Amino acid sequence: MTVTVRDKLWWKQAVVYQIYPASFCDSNGDGIGDLPGIISKLDYIASLGVDVIWICPMYDSPQVDMGYDISNYEDVYRPYGTVQDMETLINETHARGMRIMLDLVINHTSDQHSWFKESRASKDSPKRDWYIWRPAKYSPSGERLPPNNWRSNFGGGSAWEWDEQTQEYYLHLFATEQPDLNWENHETRKAIYASSMEFWLARGVDGFRVDTVNMYSKPPTLPDAPIVDPETPYQPAGMIYCNGPRMHEFLTEMNLILEKYGAITVGELPCTPDTQRVLRYVSAKAKQLNMVFQFDVVDVGMGKTHKFATRPKNYTLPDFKAAIDLTQALIRGTDGWSTVFLENHDQARSVSRFTDDRPEYRVRGAKLLALMEACLSGTQYVYQGQEIGLVNVPKESYPVDNYLDIDSSLYYNMVKERHGADNKAELDKAFDAIQHLARDHARVPIPWNGKTKYGGFSEAAEKAGKELQEPWMKPHPLAGEINVASQLHDPDSVLAFWRKMLRFRREHADLLVYGDFKDLRPEDKDLFVFVKEPAHGGDRVLVVLNFTTEEKAWEVPSPAALGVSEVRELVPIMCTHPGKTRVGQLAAFEGQVYLVR
Ligand code: GLC
Ligand code: CA
Repeated sequence: MTVTVRDKLWWKQAVVYQIYPASFCDSNGDGIGDLPGIISKLDYIASLGVDVIWICPMYDSPQVDMGYDISNYEDVYRPYGTVQDMETLINETHARGMRIMLDLVINHTSDQHSWFKESRASKDSPKRDWYIWRPAKYSPSGERLPPNNWRSNFGGGSAWEWDEQTQEYYLHLFATEQPDLNWENHETRKAIYASSMEFWLARGVDGFRVDTVNMYSKPPTLPDAPIVDPETPYQPAGMIYCNGPRMHEFLTEMNLILEKYGAITVGELPCTPDTQRVLRYVSAKAKQLNMVFQFDVVDVGMGKTHKFATRPKNYTLPDFKAAIDLTQALIRGTDGWSTVFLENHDQARSVSRFTDDRPEYRVRGAKLLALMEACLSGTQYVYQGQEIGLVNVPKESYPVDNYLDIDSSLYYNMVKERHGADNKAELDKAFDAIQHLARDHARVPIPWNGKTKYGGFSEAAEKAGKELQEPWMKPHPLAGEINVASQLHDPDSVLAFWRKMLRFRREHADLLVYGDFKDLRPEDKDLFVFVKEPAHGGDRVLVVLNFTTEEKAWEVPSPAALGVSEVRELVPIMCTHPGKTRVGQLAAFEGQVYLVR
């Protein structure tokens, strides 16, 4: 029985809807989503039951990593709009009773940011120390080598780039064009806070999703990473450079500013499987971040040496459930808080990864996951397109050349280099993994309707008689079958079900948002059976989910397992399948929720 008093706060029971500007809605027909497009859909978003929107980077950027390479924090990427459009978006969001969060990308900038241009200009530039510069190392035979063996997060190359002009290497944990800022420098930190945070807080934003939040403090000696991939000199090093020694000092400093504005935060926390370590970021007492995105669930099935070094669905249901248990455990008996999410702009579609995206199953799969998420504790995040059950683009109708993301294309090129451009077997294996896990799936333009050009991505411009440019990424081949318009008024649609789930979650917030989670059958390969217990006694809920394409029987768990002295009644309160709930039976991908009395 839990004894902690779990503070109830608005952002804990909020639903956050994430928007990827390039792919959400194009208002002017140039094939690129934009801020006026987002504004035009605010009523739609509010109608889902959303409390907060989170906008992925809309800042000025050369777009090497889709805006996560920022060249000016205080301006907007022109194809998306202007600072004035942002002000309108902020006001219009508030006018609908919602709040708005921006993406805070401050581990690195673009190499086109004026700070980096100055830094790289010469060794004695006043901004030299704003980034991480190191001299070369040399092998016994005199070959020039980077300062350590860290691999960049994209592709298979080094995390260091040699600068000819000043004859030193700079560090980039991500793309070559994303140099890491030097957080050891106090003046740099002050400039980061002013430019990236206060500029926007002063304009009314309500919080930030904080990109790669645990990478700012590097271990001072920059030690080599252990060798896990002997085929290459560069090794995955996340476990070395994440969670460095000064992380909490930096976050405390940052929080002094955020606090002034009452801003909320959710940090992206990769490479941190240890719950006690996670807690240091989200314990209320610590005053660092309100919540974080742990990676345990979305990393399920990914390769060990490289995320794509795997085959589709390379996991078991117990693996998936164990990962969920780990993130749910974060709040058990603590003052920390958790998040619930299966998708974001870095993940493939959850229906394809965790259920079955064949036409006969995908609607059921989407509803099953919606029901599951609605019953998990933490702040709920929904990614654009998830609410209509979008699936990955199919392999047959979306060739590998259509994938534009730097992460997938660098991997594919690496495989070509390693195994030869004519090695069909290896290339096909890589394509299989990309078709299953690539970030591109989340970035395909949203199909607003199935009838007009390009899935209705630029429908307003088309209606206004404008000539349309093809979207920046090829449209979804299934736009005719899965789109917003066809679901808006269909009571059996995935969209209608998501609305229902978000209402249901709100109505039973004590249990569903704030309750304690207990997996009753962690080893079960087909069913996910869990209870949610209230922190202070009272009814509990039982959730049973069938993750297979077959009908399954289940047994009512014993009173002891349910944590009660006797079960007088199981009252069905929610179900994915219309019709009468049959206790003890589940159809393919059916989910049921009961109040235990
Ligand atoms: C985060 C973002 C991702 C980006 C990376 C580098 O992981 O979510 O999209 O590529 O940081 O900024
Ligand atoms: Ca546009």
